[in-house]
Amino acid sequence: MLKKFNPAADYQPESFSFADQAAVDEIIARYPKGRQQSATMPLLDLAQRQVAETGPFGDLPTGGGWIPRAAMDEIADIVGVPPIKVYEVATFYSMYNLEPVGKYLIQFCGTTPCWLCGSAPVMEIVEKELGIGHGETSKDGYFTLMEVECLGACSNAPMIQVNDLFYEDLTPEKMLEILNSLKKDEIPAHGPQNGRRAAMALSGPTTLEEQAKKAGVL
Ligand code: FES
Repeated sequence: MLKKFNPAADYQPESFSFADQAAVDEIIARYPKGRQQSATMPLLDLAQRQVAETGPFGDLPTGGGWIPRAAMDEIADIVGVPPIKVYEVATFYSMYNLEPVGKYLIQFCGTTPCWLCGSAPVMEIVEKELGIGHGETSKDGYFTLMEVECLGACSNAPMIQVNDLFYEDLTPEKMLEILNSLKKDEIPAHGPQNGRRAAMALSGPTTLEEQAKKAGVL
């Protein structure tokens, strides 16, 4: 999915610096000397998480993680590459947000297995309840909605991702409950919402039962 990147937008801050130098050093130290550019992706992630905690959120009263252009320039400086190299990485991967997003980023899987299992009515509930569509953010800065391609949890379709967490086996009713909790800043239990554990069959595991017991899933 194409993500918007406007390096000259009003919401772009003049400068950015990492608040946790020890975290930056730890990331850089993961890679051999002379290969610091390999740290680009984890540093982008660190910048996005810092913005989620401290802003800036652009014009939104609250918001979530995104990566300002100034943060990309700072990363380019740290790893010793031209800024365009960092822009190329950040614009390629969908997990990096390049403009302000809501505090709760809802990534909605609309790919075939989720669609066949009923993602459309679940999506409709979200749009109706929040009054926003694909790529839009609610005025209170709480929610951004994005339709994405398969998130790899097809066996528990339909599903969404909210920030770092998956919510699976959704129904419109369950979706509404999740939204109502998030509106109160209560984070609902993630994972399947119909009582099953992980990606096993509804009736329970059909293989690898001993391993499931050892892993504490049963
Ligand atoms: S199709 Fe939705 S998670 Fe794979």
